[in-house]
Amino acid sequence: MASYDLVVIGSGPGGYVAAIRAAQLGLSVACVEKRATLGGTCLNIGCIPSKALLQSSERYEAAKHHLADHGVQVGSVKLDLAQMMARKDKVVEANTKGVEFLFKKNKVRAVAGTGRITGPNSVTVALTAGGEEVLETKAILIATGSDSVSLPGVEIDEERVVSSTGGLTLKAVPKHLVVIGAGYIGLEMGSVWGRLGAEVTVVEYLDRITPTMDGETAKTLQRILEKQGMKFRLGTKVTKVDTSSKKGVTLTVEPAAGGAAETIACDVVLVAVGRRPYVDGLGLAEVGVTVDERGRVPVDHHFRTNVPSIFAIGDVIPGAMLAHKAEDEGVAVAELLAGHAGHVNYDVIPAVIYTAPEVGSVGKTEEELKAAGIAYKVGKFPFTANGRARANGATDGFAKILADKTTDRVLGAHIIGPEAGTLIAEIAVAMEFGASAEDVARTCHAHPTLNEAVKEAALAVDGRALHM
Ligand code: FAD
Ligand code: NAI
Repeated sequence: MASYDLVVIGSGPGGYVAAIRAAQLGLSVACVEKRATLGGTCLNIGCIPSKALLQSSERYEAAKHHLADHGVQVGSVKLDLAQMMARKDKVVEANTKGVEFLFKKNKVRAVAGTGRITGPNSVTVALTAGGEEVLETKAILIATGSDSVSLPGVEIDEERVVSSTGGLTLKAVPKHLVVIGAGYIGLEMGSVWGRLGAEVTVVEYLDRITPTMDGETAKTLQRILEKQGMKFRLGTKVTKVDTSSKKGVTLTVEPAAGGAAETIACDVVLVAVGRRPYVDGLGLAEVGVTVDERGRVPVDHHFRTNVPSIFAIGDVIPGAMLAHKAEDEGVAVAELLAGHAGHVNYDVIPAVIYTAPEVGSVGKTEEELKAAGIAYKVGKFPFTANGRARANGATDGFAKILADKTTDRVLGAHIIGPEAGTLIAEIAVAMEFGASAEDVARTCHAHPTLNEAVKEAALAVDGRALHM
């Protein structure tokens, strides 16, 4: 019987990174994956394919509407959706193969099959190739991720009523796409299909979009997306999705607070109302691992469940469902298992929405600081006043830095604008070093770069922005 120091169940960004780091530190590691390819939700049906389509659709839109502004005439622009999808599939394949390569390089054994925990130190795998294998192990890591959820009574067929997975593989551009949920998936996938020519209506239960985002930033994002043609029905609930007609789908909606119902006709509905931790068939109850009321696996600060030899990370545990958070937890748990001091700083986990413009956030929002009674200063700088943004023709948005009123320490940053997802890393590093806004402001930033907007926001915290 095979015996390991660590058996990881799930090869998403949490699981595969934990497996590699543990192997680097000298542990013998196997990683069980039931999907045909490695890389989990993120590489196969999440981050990577969605970003490939966001990139391609942005190119299409630029060619169709914006290149002429730059003096580039391209004649008639045609969409080849099949080629766009084929490119996305290639990008996914390159990434999943990359994980395969890394496993070989680091001597992690990939076990193809579905894992079930059959004891505190054993995982039984129903092998994809047939038969069963029992893996004995000192430690088990649950990294089984999450799955999309639907609304009561709404059946996902992945053709006309789709989750993000079906939304990444539509065979034609819908005339009218209704997105339920104005969160990460809804806004990113809504942007893709909107750029490719669909009318997009986003129905959101709350009276605002992206509930956890800094309020001013979310309002600005909504305004910009509306300018791009996306329609929002906020404070609205969907009570029925009727697919009985071959001609199209009919949604019944009503105000969330109650009121008259009305119908919306469309041809495709994307349900993007959140994800649930995935522990189906893992045998947690049998082995005594506790789950909370939302199906998540609670862990202590060493990622240990209530069963001492069983650990958990990523989307399956409480906290943000983000790939880089899962990766950092994977590194930390591997280091802890190898006797090192693994740690994740949850105060500095960036979050990015890859719309155009992007939104990058890290640390506290203004709403959170107000609720906590922390006095803070705000420094804000618009991209309209940044030379590089003007040169690039992408001036929507701003960089905003929140700093402690007394100490000037950076507490959070919210950037909506070109490359915001990349720009936010500067503030994440600054926060990890306990920087003040003045530290960022006094750091020399190359000219002309978008990062200068971040520097100017840091200057603005002290009321001394130079270019505004
Ligand atoms: P997962 O990636 O979900 O991997 C879990 C793996 O475990 C799966 O491959 C599953 O098949 C396997 N598994 C489950 N049970 C078993 C079992 N019993 N036996 C064997 N294998 C099993 N996050 C970002 O940070 N940035 C983004 O841009 C981003 N974009 C996204 C876009 C979409 C459309 C979606 C759906 C998600 C996106 N996310 C993004 C979220 C990100 O994908 C997740 O946070 C991340 O994948 C979580 O990693 P994980 O390792 O916890 O689990
Ligand atoms: P989400 O939590 O981001 O957004 C769900 C939205 O649906 C919320 O605004 C919520 O208020 C709304 N909602 C909930 N129930 C509703 C109902 N009945 N009717 C109307 N609206 C309703 O979830 P989403 O977009 O499904 O994404 C899941 C997770 O995947 C994200 O939370 C994020 O962690 C991850 N993700 C991350 C991305 C990134 O980092 N760029 C991209 C895509 C997904």
